[in-house]
Amino acid sequence: MKVTLSVIKADVGSLAGHHMVHPQQIEEASKELQKSKDNGLLIDFYVTGVGDDLQLIMTHTQGVDNPKIHGLAWDVFTKVTENVSKKLKLYAAGQDLLSTAFSGNLKGMGPGVAEGEIEERPSEPIVIFMADKTEPGAWNLPLYKIFADPFNTAGLVIDQSLHGGFTFRVMDVMEGKMIDLHTPEESYDLLALIGTPGRYIIQSIYRRSDGLLAAVASTTRLSLIAGRYVGKDDPVLFVRAQHGLPAVGEILEGFAMPHLVAGWMRGSHHGPLMPVGLKNAKCTRFDGPPRVVALGFQLCEGKLIGPADLFDDPAFDLSRLIANQIADFMRRHGPFMPARLGPEEMEYTTLPIILKKLESRFKPIP
Ligand code: F6R
Ligand code: MG
Ligand code: MG
Repeated sequence: MKVTLSVIKADVGSLAGHHMVHPQQIEEASKELQKSKDNGLLIDFYVTGVGDDLQLIMTHTQGVDNPKIHGLAWDVFTKVTENVSKKLKLYAAGQDLLSTAFSGNLKGMGPGVAEGEIEERPSEPIVIFMADKTEPGAWNLPLYKIFADPFNTAGLVIDQSLHGGFTFRVMDVMEGKMIDLHTPEESYDLLALIGTPGRYIIQSIYRRSDGLLAAVASTTRLSLIAGRYVGKDDPVLFVRAQHGLPAVGEILEGFAMPHLVAGWMRGSHHGPLMPVGLKNAKCTRFDGPPRVVALGFQLCEGKLIGPADLFDDPAFDLSRLIANQIADFMRRHGPFMPARLGPEEMEYTTLPIILKKLESRFKPIP
């Protein structure tokens, strides 16, 4: 059976500043999606919040980029904004709804979308990752580890069906181009690109032996959409697991080292990506540190069985401790790079105004 998985998220306002989604927003979104399940458009859905982002996880048979599904997500975000965010005067109500009207596809309109059509296997374990206070390039490092690094994924070496490697589809979000690179032989070329995660972003991954879709990430960059920064476009990702793909444990292993990502306070700082359970998916210290949640599901004729809250486990306590130590260390740098992002990547900057003010006081160096 062919099933489309659509993970669509938006920040449409939140409780206590940019801290967390309000339970009434989740209720309102679930109520709306239930209507679409009842009328047969959706097979199933699951709604949750990660930090200040409302997450719609949906299954259906309409394929990717379908106007009905994208339109449904747009309507849900609009209704949540009008009926809850604005009524409760939640903070930044409707923030990610950048367009005033829906025009058939969510691309370029604000919400983040990770979407793929798959042939459901006899058993189909899927892990959905959702992060807050960071950007889509944050997935580059863990995705490389999961699908191309044998020190992370034992199966690349010892399971015949992973041994042939994977194809990484990488987007250049500045130029609007994309390229397919094949591991293991093009690993160095791939790393040369994805080591610049603000520009080159892994969009999807395929198994080389048969072209099976293994992972899909959201690649919208709100900054580029809006022509100016309007909030880091906290990304989503799904990864299929097991039986000739990385095991769930190999997939989670990619997040054990809390690597540095761009985002955090005012979308203008580097911080560690801390893996957390849903109960801790809300940013606090310096609006962070950036967080990632992993929900595991089994697909069953398109139904979402689950979720399992995979980072809600003592096995990730050490990663969290290290993340907090890194967060503390980075904070001590205050406004200095590289704790603060470079000027071209900052979401907020007064630099042009300050330079203008000081212009007449700059003298030639004798
Ligand atoms: C980062 C983020 C927050 C805000 C910060 C200031 O992505 O959402 O760190 O940038 O709280 O928010 P405003 O300017 O709305 O007061
Ligand atoms: Mg927000
Ligand atoms: Mg957010």
